[in-house]
Amino acid sequence: MTIAQIMEKMIAFSDGNTGDIDHFVRVWAYARMIGELEGLDSQTQYILEIAAITHDIACPLCREKYGNVNGKYQEAEGAVMVRDFLSDSGLSGSQIDRVSYLVGHHHTLTDISGIDYQILVEADYIANASENHYSKGNCENFVQRIAKTRAGKRIISQVFGL
Ligand SMILES: [Fe+2]
Repeated sequence: MTIAQIMEKMIAFSDGNTGDIDHFVRVWAYARMIGELEGLDSQTQYILEIAAITHDIACPLCREKYGNVNGKYQEAEGAVMVRDFLSDSGLSGSQIDRVSYLVGHHHTLTDISGIDYQILVEADYIANASENHYSKGNCENFVQRIAKTRAGKRIISQVFGL
């Protein structure tokens, strides 16, 4: 499937929840931009964009099942759900494994392995920080301690006026 086709499928999956849809579209846009600015190869860029689109796939289930979208439950449930979601996408087994890993770790900020993982975390942070009005100090801390890509640091600094 193309990125657009996967986005359309994720919109259908989101069942009219405009908050969820707006969030993943924004995370995807930032991830795509940072990935391109960092010069990712096309395969890594493709996986990154699919992970950005699907990273919060477990949010509706977690709200219903646990009453919250706590990071650890969401990661564990999402890692499984995304495999089913992508089963008709034409992705290879190893591509699905990587997307599942990324969805399953997107709230884990220790031992970030791989540029796709790093950029997903940066893009999700930008979307969450603006949605939830994080303080300047929080953004500065993220740029100093968690953000690693040059493009990601630049964009976070520009978006939040650091
Ligand atoms: Fe997110």
